[in-house]
Amino acid sequence: MSQFNFLAPVSKEMKIVESRLDKYVQSDLAMLNEAAGHLIGAGGKRLRPGFALLAAKIYQDDLENIIPLAIALELVHMATLVHDDVIDNSMVRRGTDTVKLAWGNRVSIYAGNFIFARAMSIIADYEDVEIIDILADTSMKICQGEIIQMLSCYNVNLGLKNYLRRIERKTALLISVSCQLGAILAKAPENEIKALTRYGYYLGMGFQITDDILDFVADEQTLGKPTGSDIRQGVITLPALYALNHSVYKDELRQLLASPEACDREADKIIEMIIDSDGIDYSYWLARHYAGKAKKQLDMIPEHPVKNTLLEITDYILERDY
Ligand code: IPE
Ligand code: IPE
Ligand code: MG
Ligand code: MG
Repeated sequence: MSQFNFLAPVSKEMKIVESRLDKYVQSDLAMLNEAAGHLIGAGGKRLRPGFALLAAKIYQDDLENIIPLAIALELVHMATLVHDDVIDNSMVRRGTDTVKLAWGNRVSIYAGNFIFARAMSIIADYEDVEIIDILADTSMKICQGEIIQMLSCYNVNLGLKNYLRRIERKTALLISVSCQLGAILAKAPENEIKALTRYGYYLGMGFQITDDILDFVADEQTLGKPTGSDIRQGVITLPALYALNHSVYKDELRQLLASPEACDREADKIIEMIIDSDGIDYSYWLARHYAGKAKKQLDMIPEHPVKNTLLEITDYILERDY
């Protein structure tokens, strides 16, 4: 199912996005070009540019004016990944070395900032304050999401609300905004912009829940990034949260998850306890719930082949293995 090509309706435009992405991060500094080019060349699902193009495609056929937005969205996403891998101390991303591993923390921080600033300069060319405002606000919220996550590590007393708040900020909002901005630029009717914004939001929530599930159960090779890293860092995601409340080992889990040493040394045991607790099934249930809500938002979108693609994506995020 991960072979499902959700970008098919916008494949022509995505080719242009691909060819320009690399060009946009070029500067006269070889190290920066190599670091940014490395992550671009490694691939990735291109979900955010895809959503901007798909949302716009419902309303207009020629997507030339959406392409810079699509590129900027992927660059914002990439900047967060470069920094995230420093924070998470991750060595593998998109099936290859992270910028962190290959160039180190200092280059990663500058490269992330450079890529982010590049995205903003592309957006500035639209000369549209609303778009800049929406993207700047989302970028601030992504940082907040990452900070909430950092502050929540090893804290076994936080509940579902804290979890949902951080995944909303770190992931769902950028996906939501990708749909929203695509629809705005394509001059969709106001109520349909709202519906597509909500679609992206619910889809993004489901998407991050499956990301958190995959950290427990995926095949590392297929996923292209390390598994088990959330537990190792003390990041208590939905499956762990469920187990903390329902596992027969919940008292032991509380002790283990509250301890940085235990999370690091006994990660495999903790992961096994969480998988044993039905935390994965519960998480899939909640991801399905969000996918269903995403689907529902499309009710008011007019019939169009791309609408079917958006519907199919809500199934894909549940079945994905990468
Ligand atoms: C990874 O995003 C970070 C999350 C928000 C889960 P993706 O899973 O979209 O990463 P790429 O772009 O395909 O590498
Ligand atoms: C990162 O979340 C989300 C960002 C917005 C950077 P994760 O830490 O779960 O992402 P992965 O699993 O490293 O891709
Ligand atoms: Mg990470
Ligand atoms: Mg993750």
